[in-house]
Amino acid sequence: MTDDRISRSARPLPLAHRTELNAGQRLVWSVVAVAAFAGAACDRRDEVAVHKRRAEGSVREGFDDKAGAATSPGAPPVSPAALLERAKPILGALPREIRSETNPSTPEKIALGRQLFFETRLSKNHDISCASCHELDHYGIDADTRDGARTKTSVGHKGQLGGRNTPSVYNAGLHFVQFWDGRAEDLESQAKGPILNPVEMAMPDEAAVLTTLESIPGYEDAFAKAFPGERKPISYDNVAKAIAAFERQLITPAKFDAFMGGDLTALSAEELRGLQLFLDVGCTQCHTGATVGGTMFQKLGTVKPWPGLTDEGRAEVTKSAADRFVFKVPSLRNVAETAPYLHDGSVADLATIVQLMAEHQAARGKLADGEVAAVVAFLGSLTGTPPMDAIAVPELPPSGPKTPKPDPG
Ligand code: HEC
Ligand code: HEC
Repeated sequence: MTDDRISRSARPLPLAHRTELNAGQRLVWSVVAVAAFAGAACDRRDEVAVHKRRAEGSVREGFDDKAGAATSPGAPPVSPAALLERAKPILGALPREIRSETNPSTPEKIALGRQLFFETRLSKNHDISCASCHELDHYGIDADTRDGARTKTSVGHKGQLGGRNTPSVYNAGLHFVQFWDGRAEDLESQAKGPILNPVEMAMPDEAAVLTTLESIPGYEDAFAKAFPGERKPISYDNVAKAIAAFERQLITPAKFDAFMGGDLTALSAEELRGLQLFLDVGCTQCHTGATVGGTMFQKLGTVKPWPGLTDEGRAEVTKSAADRFVFKVPSLRNVAETAPYLHDGSVADLATIVQLMAEHQAARGKLADGEVAAVVAFLGSLTGTPPMDAIAVPELPPSGPKTPKPDPG
């Protein structure tokens, strides 16, 4: 592992990016949270009214938003109001917070979880943290490139490559299970995996993790505050609980949420056409809910076999032949920013994966180029705003005299 990776995970967000996100954040939150149009700039009201009128008009005239009319030349504009009503029971706006009954979030627990998420001393060679592979300033994925292209899988301990593409941690707290094959039921059980995984952070066992944490004076206090009243606050369970509480902060409201919240002007005409196609083509048979995925398992190749598959997915967990090539349907939140795609990272760009999905997963078959472009535009409206304060790189407590040294072996 090189210093490059360390600095990469600790690198602050480029300023331009930050400014852009903050502007988006203000817009989205004002629209979603306050009230239908209350937070929107006044000069947008007229536009809203026009859209509303057009929407009502379309409905009265029997606007048929089920037809593939979206892309035919001279087709009537997509009715935002009708589309919203149609999308409401199938998709949805992201919640403002994610709660856990069994692991309630507190500010102290979240703060500790943020430190642990960035803590390279939870890896054998003190060079890899959760944030190395899940870069929070890159939509929670591994944005590493090689030969000009994003790497398909991530580099772990001793430069070893993992077997699957790194999914985003953003909004993961809303998924019905974790990992591509769903082998972890929640964020708590997921977080226990990578620290001990020999090709990821490679700690030998739980005891070694606790020895390290107990040797860092600042953590004693932080765990005691995060888990008040417990006899032994530094435990492996509590490491996972703190990290999970932090991850539940990682919600990315987007333009699409403003639309789902009732702002009929939030999406462009092209994005609306894309949403209509997304519904018409049947993408929402699998990509459902506020996360537009993450709610079910499905086979890759339901309509037409998927070429070149080797990873058997869920079958490795259940040992059932019926689960061969079955994977968790991924959330499409921020998907425009999280290439490459699929569990193996085999597809490099969004237009290609959209076309492959239409062909192999949805009965509709190949889409016209203009249709692919519209769906891609719609998917872009799912790119949201990370909570910038929550993801700031934290200060980590200094090692103590007994803290084990990095072990490259
Ligand atoms: C070496 C790279 C690497 C490191 C380090 C790493 N992850 Fe991951 N993470 C992955 C990969 C790859 C997957 C998918 C593996 C699979 O599905 O089999 C994944 C999956 C996940 C998921 C599931 C997301 C979903 O949509 O299913 C979460 C949550 C997650 N990691 C959080 C963490 C946390 C917390 C840590 C630190 C304790 C961590 N990761 C460390 C690469 C990494
Ligand atoms: C029958 C279920 C099903 C349907 C219908 C479906 N998908 Fe998928 N989709 C999946 C599964 C399963 C995966 C993940 C496969 C894997 O693990 O590699 C996926 C992956 C994707 C990805 C890659 C996401 C990522 O992060 O890697 C995109 C983009 C996508 N689908 C878009 C669409 C679009 C657009 C449509 C409609 C044209 C569609 N899907 C229809 C099941 C479906």
